[in-house]
Amino acid sequence: METQEILTRNLEYEGYRVHSVSSVEEAIIILKNNSLDLIITDFKMPKVTGLDLIKFVKDHYHNLEIIMITGYPSIDSAKNAIKYGAYEYLLKPFTDHELLETIQKVVQKIKNRKNKQNNINDNNFMQFGIIGKSKPMLKIFSIIEKLKNNFDTVLITGESGTGKELIARALHYNGYRSNGPFVPVNCAAIPDSLFESELFGHVKGSFTGADYSKLGFFQSANNGTIFLDEISEMSPLLQTKLLRVLQNKEIYMVGSAKPQKIDIQIIASSNQDLNELIQQNKFRNDLYYRLNVINITLPPLRERTDDIIILTNFFLNKYCNEYNKSDLVLEEDIIEIFQNYQWPGNIREMENLIKRIVILAEGKTIKGVNLPDHMKYNLDFSNNYKQSLLDIEKKHIKKVLNHCHNNKTAAAKILGINRKTLREKLIKFKIV
Ligand SMILES: Nc1ncnc2c1ncn2[C@@H]1O[C@H](COP(=O)(O)OP(=O)(O)OP(=O)(O)O)[C@@H](O)[C@H]1O
Ligand SMILES: [Mg+2]
Repeated sequence: METQEILTRNLEYEGYRVHSVSSVEEAIIILKNNSLDLIITDFKMPKVTGLDLIKFVKDHYHNLEIIMITGYPSIDSAKNAIKYGAYEYLLKPFTDHELLETIQKVVQKIKNRKNKQNNINDNNFMQFGIIGKSKPMLKIFSIIEKLKNNFDTVLITGESGTGKELIARALHYNGYRSNGPFVPVNCAAIPDSLFESELFGHVKGSFTGADYSKLGFFQSANNGTIFLDEISEMSPLLQTKLLRVLQNKEIYMVGSAKPQKIDIQIIASSNQDLNELIQQNKFRNDLYYRLNVINITLPPLRERTDDIIILTNFFLNKYCNEYNKSDLVLEEDIIEIFQNYQWPGNIREMENLIKRIVILAEGKTIKGVNLPDHMKYNLDFSNNYKQSLLDIEKKHIKKVLNHCHNNKTAAAKILGINRKTLREKLIKFKIV
């Protein structure tokens, strides 16, 4: 078999789409009719030399990369080719591995460039001040849009750092009560004994030390929104009182028998599974149903891999601007590490990490080696035991497909299953 044919087969096997031609003229026709990323060319060709091809390509298609193949006698000219813009040269004879490694480097370079271009368009992925283009985030954007005109209660659930407060603020500031106040209450931070008076206020003399009347969070939030963060931390007694507020839309100050009418939106959030707490008798069933009229569930970042690049770019831009490090670039391997990492602290963890690496960056590039060890080696000390075998299978299939640029034949080969089985799994796992 001819070298060109072997190369073509190997590359197709790896999942690349290959056009194979035997002259520069033919190559130019293919270039005109297709959008290509890379040319692999011999240096010595009939009529036109490899150097001429590079010049032509760099004049007309400046994003197209070139790998030059050369025999030993032409090595100096090949080195010259790099000066004219070829990415790399390979000296004959080379192994499949060498070729693939060089191609993978080029592919990374191209991906990086595309990421940077996406970067410029990041604002397209921002709605209500929230970054996202993954399916679950688009669904959440449409809920926020729909709730614009009215809602009484919304329950937001999701792991720590997934953006619950950000969504709560977006609901308030895009709703028709946006002129009213937004009052966040961290239920985990208020001692039980003070909770009722903090929420509903108290009248003078209602308990020892109540020297004057004081309004609570509910009165402050009137005509606006109260955000009850970490609602699972509320004591059973207070849960009962809150239920009554939701039912009657009125509150009682501690020490007063006079009801006060309130007109308010309530957004509650929890990073715990309230259903589990109900089963353990720690959360009231009836309160849950009252709050859960509309539920927004924020998936963890590791399940929103589509958002990882845009969030990374967003925070990189934000902190580069803030710390005057305008042209800092992320080295290619970082995004891949980010996409495989578990992010136990979700978006807050990512934001803090990027802030830290921007502050500490010394050169112009941030490299994978600068990341903490547990990220680099994808060591997961967190909640990996919560993953089922099915979860892991789904993730692995996604990774392999990604690696094969969605070429299902190549992916099936790596996975050791036939195409039909792969297709069935894609449907089962809803991977499109
Ligand atoms: N989609 C997003 N786009 C941009 N920034 C985000 C997004 N999601 C979260 N953030 C940022 O990440 C940080 C954490 O978000 P937030 O405080 O809303 O999370 P949380 O779910 O309330 O966390 P916790 O449960 O720990 O209170 C904030 O700085 C927020 O602005
Ligand atoms: Mg929060």
